Amino acid sequence: MKNSYWILSSKNKEDYKSLESDITTDCLIVGGGIAGLTTAYLLAKENKKVTILEADEIGYGASGRNTGKVTSQHGLIYSTIEKEYSSEKARLYYDANEDGLNLIKNIIKENEIDCNFNIVPSFVYTEKEKYIQDIKKEYEVCKNLNIPCKYMNNIKDVPLNIKSALCFENQGQFNPKKYVDALAKINYKLGVKIYEHTPVVDVNIDEECMVKCANDHIIKAKQLILTSCNAWYDGLRLFFAKEEASRSYLLCGKVKNKILEGNYINVENPTRTFATHKDDKGIDLLIAGGQDHKTGKCSNECDNFKAIERFAKEIFNIDEILETWSTQDYVSVDDIPFMGRISDGKNNVYIITGTSKWGLTNSSAGAILIKDLITKNHSKYEDLYNPSRLKSYINMKFLEHNMEVAVDYIKGKFISGSTELPKKEEGKTISLHGKRYGAYRDKDNHLYIVDITCTHLGCELSFNSGEKTWDCPCHGSRFDYKGNILNGPALRPLKTYNEGKNKIEPKIL
Ligand SMILES: Cc1cc2nc3c(=O)[nH]c(=O)nc-3n(C[C@H](O)[C@H](O)[C@H](O)COP(=O)(O)OP(=O)(O)OC[C@H]3O[C@@H](n4cnc5c(N)ncnc54)[C@H](O)[C@@H]3O)c2cc1C
Ligand code: FES
Repeated sequence: MKNSYWILSSKNKEDYKSLESDITTDCLIVGGGIAGLTTAYLLAKENKKVTILEADEIGYGASGRNTGKVTSQHGLIYSTIEKEYSSEKARLYYDANEDGLNLIKNIIKENEIDCNFNIVPSFVYTEKEKYIQDIKKEYEVCKNLNIPCKYMNNIKDVPLNIKSALCFENQGQFNPKKYVDALAKINYKLGVKIYEHTPVVDVNIDEECMVKCANDHIIKAKQLILTSCNAWYDGLRLFFAKEEASRSYLLCGKVKNKILEGNYINVENPTRTFATHKDDKGIDLLIAGGQDHKTGKCSNECDNFKAIERFAKEIFNIDEILETWSTQDYVSVDDIPFMGRISDGKNNVYIITGTSKWGLTNSSAGAILIKDLITKNHSKYEDLYNPSRLKSYINMKFLEHNMEVAVDYIKGKFISGSTELPKKEEGKTISLHGKRYGAYRDKDNHLYIVDITCTHLGCELSFNSGEKTWDCPCHGSRFDYKGNILNGPALRPLKTYNEGKNKIEPKIL
């Protein structure tokens, strides 16, 4: 998998050992991204005994691979929430994300974190006449909610044909990997136990939560907090059916001609998102991206990288491309994350998921929400983000998403494999002795053959040529070509040829 500019430029990460014994803790956090680390920080400050389990390394998930925008402006979110819910909920969403933004600013200031944080404006814009009305509507909604913002007919010093834009001043931009690496170190000093390379594979919820790791060690906890981005444990809330895994493509390059500092995103398709960034030496960089698609549903991922490179070179006169990468987040059916108590019946289990590509401020707000639920038993944001909210089931997108999943499931079963093995650096579905497998041949001519029936709910995986991975079109699980899990909700790796059939094992109850 390609690493992001942020991962490659954060040099001060500590290594944390994996769990090698059974332990007991007050609060167990599964997932070492911004959601888990921020929740750990706030709980440790309340004198809770906190443990974090991370399947990979701290900040190697979406938190180390995004655009680095720390903002309460999330596309056209306020008009969307007002339409779907109410103006009160839209204002609450703003307050929560401002709390998230201020928490990030305060953590950086109090702990003197060097993560290239800058105050910049955020813009949502369009280059197409037909979307001007949508931006005007967002402006009217924001004005009525007393959200400080400015309507603009164009943006000077940005080489695009912008016809309409909405600006939020005083937002932020940083290197998210430097931030989470520093936050992990601060947590460690506060007494938080951090274990990397410790994937969780099972859970049993009772008065006490019992979690099992892949190496069979057991952790007992009073409270379990799931911050693994996807919802691998469901608690019968059907998260897999109400959030969609969406991938996007990003690059970081050196700009020749400076543009107005800020965070930018358009409203039309294809999505174009970009942000200015200054590195440690004060060199002006541009992070640019887009080309979103549902995970596992792209015929040629390499074309998406090319499209982003063209955009950056043609529009912004990029001098040199430093890195390109892709990543995914889980987008909820109503664009509001699922954060809080997983269900009324399980009041010692909490979750942050469905952060919908705006998880830096949202999951920081989620950390405040979960800390308040654990320490005070209530939060003003409980209802807004309620993981069981009724409208997340009674929703057109919920129906469309699940219809599509059903079609993908069936379609996958009818795809027959090729009888020819792949060439070097090629991956494809093959048929061997009447059975379907996924095969990839690396540049040294080693052939890797795996069972490509997803271990979550049994959909057939498709090959991602950009990342050399097997991706699931149903709920976004991803596996490397050797069969190791890269993204859930799947909890089991793929079996290799001769190991037998994959075990399908969702953790729904
Ligand atoms: C292209 C793109 C651009 C984005 N840009 C922005 C932006 O500019 N601003 C913004 O606010 N948001 C942005 N986002 C969204 C943001 O990056 C995410 O919402 C946020 O990082 C989610 O944080 P997290 O901690 O929940 O997840 P992650 O950072 O993914 O952390 C979850 C961790 O859990 C671990 N894990 C998973 N399963 C297990 C298991 N079974 N056991 C143990 N550990 C496990 C993973 O290894 C991972 O490290 C973007 C997203 C994308 C896709
Ligand atoms: S992720 Fe659900 S079936 Fe693959």
